[in-house]
Amino acid sequence: MFDDRQMRHLETQVDALRMKQKDSATRKTYDQVFDQAALLTIASLISDGVISTLDYPVSTGKEANVFHATDAAGRAKALKIYRINTATFRNIALYIEGDPRFKRVKRATKPTIFAWAQKEYKNLVRMEDAGVRVPTPERVLDNVLVMAYIGDETTPAPSLREVALESPAAVYQDVVANLRAIRKSRLVHADMSEYNLLWWQDRVVVIDVGQAVPLDHPHAEEWFRRDVANIARFFKRLRVDTTPASLEQAILQD
Ligand SMILES: Nc1ncnc2c1ncn2[C@@H]1O[C@H](COP(=O)(O)OP(=O)(O)O)[C@@H](O)[C@H]1O
Ligand SMILES: [Mg+2]
Repeated sequence: MFDDRQMRHLETQVDALRMKQKDSATRKTYDQVFDQAALLTIASLISDGVISTLDYPVSTGKEANVFHATDAAGRAKALKIYRINTATFRNIALYIEGDPRFKRVKRATKPTIFAWAQKEYKNLVRMEDAGVRVPTPERVLDNVLVMAYIGDETTPAPSLREVALESPAAVYQDVVANLRAIRKSRLVHADMSEYNLLWWQDRVVVIDVGQAVPLDHPHAEEWFRRDVANIARFFKRLRVDTTPASLEQAILQD
């Protein structure tokens, strides 16, 4: 049970996070993220023992905020909270429509965003089962997704975009292996780029899979091509011998 005292404790944690935000835009975002409903959702996660503290922000993105959290055993978790507003709704609608797994979702903001968090969770499970290196998903509740945190106490894992790779050709092979595994999961990532590949302990970790769609989605083919083109472009700049065509072949060959 989550009692009043614990709720006040959580509100204190959130207020502390809010106070640390110097610029008013981020503070405004925080007001949007931590409405009463979100506090209750986080409280549920705490009383279920999924996390025990909400520690500090990792990222403020277009649709979601990511926070570092810790569970009772001291393990680091990433908490991704989707903001409930029409901008988020508009950005995600295209990826929910046409996904047969979400045929019955109501076309309203809140149910769609809850479905989106569910979708990211399910996509993580499905990819991990197929051998894709992703943050292990832990729980999804309403608009909040909990997964393993990639990084350590001093640094979150950087994206491939942010690191100077010693051996781009070897990293490319690691990315190809993960793209093959995504294919095996019968999903298309649909936002694949150097921004959504983290670099941690000499391996890549695929993140941000909310928009991933099954192969039978009407845009699956087009988005797969776009993913392939992004990755080929990135590694070509690092002087790896690749083209979209050769990368596509490497992903699709048995
Ligand atoms: N599991 C995780 N562990 C550590 N950092 C993460 C994790 N998930 C996301 N992040 C950080 O948060 C940022 C935003 O997350 P992402 O899922 O890409 O959402 P979006 O790009 O839609 O805002 C990432 O670029 C990464 O820096
Ligand atoms: Mg991202």
